[in-house]
Amino acid sequence: MLKPEENELVTRVGPGTPMGDLFRQYWLPFMYSWELAPDGDPQRVRLLGEDLVAFRDSQGRVGLLEEGCPHRLASLYFGRNEEQGLRCVYHGWKFDVAGQCLDMPTEPASSSFKERIRAVSYRTAEAGGVVWAYLGPHQADPPGLPQYEWTLVPDDQRLHSLKMVRDCNWLQSVEGDLDSAHLFVLHSRLKQDATGGGFFHPDLAPHLEVVETEAGVMYGSRRNEDGEHYYWRVTQFCLPCFNLIPAREDGTIPSQIWVPIDDGQTLNFFLMWNPERVPDPRYNGGPRADQRQGMPYQEPTSHAFGAWRPLAQRDNDFLQDRAKQRTESMTGIPGVPIQDSAVTVSMTGRPIVDRSREHLGSTDAAIIRVRRRLIAAARALREQGTIPPGVDDPSIFRRRTSSAFLRKDADWVALLDPWHRARAPFPEGLGTYVYHGGP
Ligand code: FES
Ligand SMILES: [Fe+2]
Repeated sequence: MLKPEENELVTRVGPGTPMGDLFRQYWLPFMYSWELAPDGDPQRVRLLGEDLVAFRDSQGRVGLLEEGCPHRLASLYFGRNEEQGLRCVYHGWKFDVAGQCLDMPTEPASSSFKERIRAVSYRTAEAGGVVWAYLGPHQADPPGLPQYEWTLVPDDQRLHSLKMVRDCNWLQSVEGDLDSAHLFVLHSRLKQDATGGGFFHPDLAPHLEVVETEAGVMYGSRRNEDGEHYYWRVTQFCLPCFNLIPAREDGTIPSQIWVPIDDGQTLNFFLMWNPERVPDPRYNGGPRADQRQGMPYQEPTSHAFGAWRPLAQRDNDFLQDRAKQRTESMTGIPGVPIQDSAVTVSMTGRPIVDRSREHLGSTDAAIIRVRRRLIAAARALREQGTIPPGVDDPSIFRRRTSSAFLRKDADWVALLDPWHRARAPFPEGLGTYVYHGGP
């Protein structure tokens, strides 16, 4: 539970808020690179509560400008993406990717006014198949991109498998990945021996061990597997909103990213990578290749991220099927991502859960630690100007996760550490790596 003022502090990300300032220290992904074609249609973007327009210029550079044109604030979304810049349709002022006004046809040819006009523009970069934005104060000299291993491996070792908008605050989505206990409840099938319908493990009360890392917080959730072994699932939270969730049996590591669109909407990327080889074909191909995992989506709109809204939403009860709930799965709601959306979006206090009313249990230990870490980082930045973790050293984000059966006397932190640091080869001889399914 948090005091109401702490809940405000840790969730709100608009300009001038403490958490908004913290987010503005970091690069955030917001589009797949393929979504922007050179001289193609501009796209509306909303990040950290700011309305923006993205476009790719003739040279392939991505521009990210405030949506309102600096002349009289008309929307640049309607603009013409012409040779090396975006031209506002109202009076024809044209801006390059850095926001510099290149042309001002409504002023006398002798005027130098255009040289003094800049649209608000933010730095962009591309890595790992996505476009990243930096909305922070150091536009002239931005920090390095976070060195997540998925941005560094060859393209065929990385799979972008899902993108969607979720109608709730970013933090309650982050917290879903820090809550191992729900995996074999919310996402479970009713019958252990059934093949479909969800995951199954008899131990529903995992013991959590939480460890601070340079990049954020790591936790292991421990379940009884048999007389000699525990089943460990290790998750990494990296500031400010990047989760690496437990690796699968071939060493493929999934990641969930929860980018705040504003205080009440979140952009979710789900991807996975294998450090050494092309991921198991089970994770690839089929409907996943379209980044929608076979789920039905709404008709695309031109709103920010309007192509990425699943059909299953609060107003249709996330397509819950009560018959399936009686016979097949815990929820009767189709698919893990939508099951997560149903419980996360519906929390009391929409779109920001009222954390002053919670009653946290032992399996919420990682959530508690991450909240504290976020609040401390935001306060340290605001009060002492402390640069948050990873901004000056983006290599600290080279981390991995694991799922493993380990002997009961094994020290999971020490044993798995070389692998978790994203430098070591897959540890063939170390325990048995298993996949029980799911995030
Ligand atoms: S408002 Fe954009 S050129 Fe006038
Ligand atoms: Fe989940």
